[in-house]
Amino acid sequence: MNNLLRMVAVLLVLLMGVTASQAQSVRPPGNAVNLDDGIEPGPPNTLGDLSDSDFWRNYRGGDPNDPQQIIGPRPDGVVLTTTGQHWRALRENYIRKYAGWAPLIVIGILAVFYVLIGPMRIKSGRSGKTLSRFNLTQRVSHWFMAAVFILLGISGLIILLGRPLIAPFLGKEVNSIMTSAAMQGHNLFGPLFIVALVWMFIKFVRGNFFQWVDLKWIFKLGGFFGGHVSSHEFNFGEKSWFWMVTIVGTVISVTGVLLLFPWLVEDLRILQLSTILHGLGAVGLISVLFGHIYVGTIGMEGSLDSMLKGEVDEHWAKEHHDLWYEKVTGKSASETAKEEEPS
Ligand code: HEM
Repeated sequence: MNNLLRMVAVLLVLLMGVTASQAQSVRPPGNAVNLDDGIEPGPPNTLGDLSDSDFWRNYRGGDPNDPQQIIGPRPDGVVLTTTGQHWRALRENYIRKYAGWAPLIVIGILAVFYVLIGPMRIKSGRSGKTLSRFNLTQRVSHWFMAAVFILLGISGLIILLGRPLIAPFLGKEVNSIMTSAAMQGHNLFGPLFIVALVWMFIKFVRGNFFQWVDLKWIFKLGGFFGGHVSSHEFNFGEKSWFWMVTIVGTVISVTGVLLLFPWLVEDLRILQLSTILHGLGAVGLISVLFGHIYVGTIGMEGSLDSMLKGEVDEHWAKEHHDLWYEKVTGKSASETAKEEEPS
């Protein structure tokens, strides 16, 4: 018993020693300056007419709500800008929150369209005779672009929407692994997109300049109002898609290169703007892509043949690209249609 009491006493003494040494360590060191010791603060009025808060406000970038801070040249005396907070807020509160909805809305509209109106059939049925539409290099450049774009689209959406969409369901661990893998894939395939874009532009630009006949396509909304619309090799919808891929694709490429090699720019705000343009451009293209895939597959009978086999049915060509049909065959689309009508 005596031994036990002795042990408890020793433990108590040790414990008090540790606590006392810790308490000592938070005391100010002996050489610390103590203003009560009669040392004068610095000369008065060193900031001139500026208050302390004005000084610090200017130091860290002026008024954070001033648009000048976001896009204008950096004002004199500003050392730090807080625009990163604006871009972050824009990305987190708007792009990340709503971007996923755009492709879903397009898919919803297409589904309703398919159920209510159904696919566009070749009205006169297949003729069995075909016309050559795209050569092998055109088709390879298209499918190369499609493969690269889809890989970039999936990996990009995982990076952008993993936190709100994957983490709550599969857990943070899974989201972290998927996002890291997506990031590696995205960085790898990004440069290939630029190659695909240039190649596809060279291969398809010839038939994609806007012409007067495209105005009729717009007024008749591609044939939904006012019946048949004439079209050359590509109609207004296809030309718009081509130029959207070219222009938005260029924006995505340039901003992507800057994000991959951030030391190329000195002003951080250019990188902040790049993240926003890159994300918005990509989400826009992905959304419209669903419309393109729809028309290229289940939405229009006979369309996919052109990109798979390079050939299209003559009746398909007459119904959708009559002016192109006339150019490549030298025959009139309306007369041959009449000749083929059952008497
Ligand atoms: C996997 C999904 C895709 C399918 C099923 C598909 C299908 C098609 C088809 C059938 C055509 C030929 C249309 C015609 O003969 O008039 C075409 C043309 C085209 N596609 Fe795709 N495509 C896909 C993905 C993509 C992607 C990812 C892009 C670019 C980001 C793209 C860009 C184009 C362009 C620029 C044209 C030529 C239209 C023009 O020059 O106006 N496609 N596609």
